[in-house]
Amino acid sequence: MEIFHNKSELSQHLDRIKAANSTVGFVPTMGALHDGHLSLVEKGLIENDIIVVSIFVNPTQFDNKQDLEKYPRTLEADVELLKSLDHNKIIVYAPTIEDIYGNTVQSHTFKFDGLENEMEGAFREGHFNGVGTIVKRLFEIVKPNKAYFGEKDYQQLQIIKKLVELHQIPVEVIGCPIHREKDGLAMSSRNIRLTKAHRKAAPFLYKTLKSAKTKFGTKSAKQVMEWVKTQFSKQPLLELEYFIIADIETLKPVKRKSTKKTYRAFIAVYAGDIRLIDNIALN
Ligand code: PAJ
Repeated sequence: MEIFHNKSELSQHLDRIKAANSTVGFVPTMGALHDGHLSLVEKGLIENDIIVVSIFVNPTQFDNKQDLEKYPRTLEADVELLKSLDHNKIIVYAPTIEDIYGNTVQSHTFKFDGLENEMEGAFREGHFNGVGTIVKRLFEIVKPNKAYFGEKDYQQLQIIKKLVELHQIPVEVIGCPIHREKDGLAMSSRNIRLTKAHRKAAPFLYKTLKSAKTKFGTKSAKQVMEWVKTQFSKQPLLELEYFIIADIETLKPVKRKSTKKTYRAFIAVYAGDIRLIDNIALN
């Protein structure tokens, strides 16, 4: 498995691969890899000759300095995990901040047809400008045929599809299902930072999402949202930031249900200092 820390060396290597007509898939990550990340790499390995996995904790997408500082950085363990897959077909790109940003660590401002103003965009200022900046930059460096993103960050996935459409980037963006722990908690690099008590409480997110899905069959979105709020008010270790039922196209909260539309429920919760997000398809 080859590891690059420098974009020009990576580009030269990829140019040789592409000259031999090999297809390149791409899985961007911030590392601290888990089975959720690996499921994206595995899908990519089936559909491409080579997979590039980037590992880069992108400073511009963090709205909270402490969260950025405490974000786990485990490159050696990540490389070992990737070696457990078909490692001859995997290339790791673990750039330095300078390699990506030069001397000015700054994000560009993006408009994504309003998708950027909802949920994570509303609660994490500048987050999607940071995500747009890094993913566009990485697409320019790797120039993949296909790129894989998890539905765990559903809003991010929709925003990347919009980025590619608006900026006419020649890459196929592929969404992949959410990978969960046995108790239902969506896998996340942040889970290892949960205290024992918070880890025990955390599966309540998915449990509530599943119940909300059932309730959405007979109740209005407003009733379901009120019900979820009440459930979380009884959970001393979990603090609900938002629970929203939204149209999957616009990501705007549903006002009146329509049988012609498709909806998803989205949730963000603080378990101590750790912010957890999850979502579920409703219909
Ligand atoms: P990160 O949180 O490391 O996630 C990398 C990719 O893995 C994302 O597409 C994310 O949705 C996916 N992923 C994470 N947990 C998952 C799970 N439990 N099941 C399925 N997929 C999962 O998302 C980012 O990094 C960054 O914002 C990035 C796109 C790399 C830009 O910096």
